[in-house]
Amino acid sequence: MFNTADISQVMEINRSCLPEHYNQAFYNILYYRFPKTFVVASASDTVVGYIMCRIELGLSEMRRFNLIKKGHVVSLAVLPEYRGKRLGKGLASNALKGMLGYGAKESYLEVRVSNLAAVRLYEKLGFSVVKAKKNYYKDGEDAYVMARKIP
Ligand SMILES: CC(C)(COP(=O)(O)OP(=O)(O)OC[C@H]1O[C@@H](n2cnc3c(N)ncnc32)[C@H](O)[C@@H]1OP(=O)(O)O)[C@@H](O)C(=O)NCCC(=O)NCCS
Repeated sequence: MFNTADISQVMEINRSCLPEHYNQAFYNILYYRFPKTFVVASASDTVVGYIMCRIELGLSEMRRFNLIKKGHVVSLAVLPEYRGKRLGKGLASNALKGMLGYGAKESYLEVRVSNLAAVRLYEKLGFSVVKAKKNYYKDGEDAYVMARKIP
């Protein structure tokens, strides 16, 4: 079970695995507002992976002009030595269950177009690419927006 003391470990994993970083207040807010979708994977009492999300009210990514609650995957990472063990898939599956608990009808995320591992993982969970965002990342890379219905 996640507790707030794990946030520093989550931040460390984020720093080592992804170029997009956030300040501690951002992690705290996501945890306090949406604890059901802030999930960690642990091995021997050490956090080795995490997913954090937020619930938003907005237009459906899949059906235009449909105002719904959406679960936005903000960040997901698993330490390199723990990859390929289905932890990423487990984290995302649990976050999807949490989104359902908040009444979200859809989940979506942005992913770098070059990030094959993440794109495949999300495809395995029923997400598909709905559009691309040009120059979405600070280094100029494009993002795919991937979405799926819940449940
Ligand atoms: C993306 C990431 C979270 C995947 O974590 P993981 O625990 O290794 O993934 P899983 O073992 O749960 O894999 C689930 C599925 O994803 C796909 N997958 C995972 N890694 C893959 C790779 N390197 N190449 C191709 N497909 C891959 C597989 O289809 C796998 O399904 P299978 O086990 O049924 O074959 C991990 O690589 C990571 O932390 N990357 C750096 C951070 C990142 O890119 N985060 C995503 C930002 S949107």
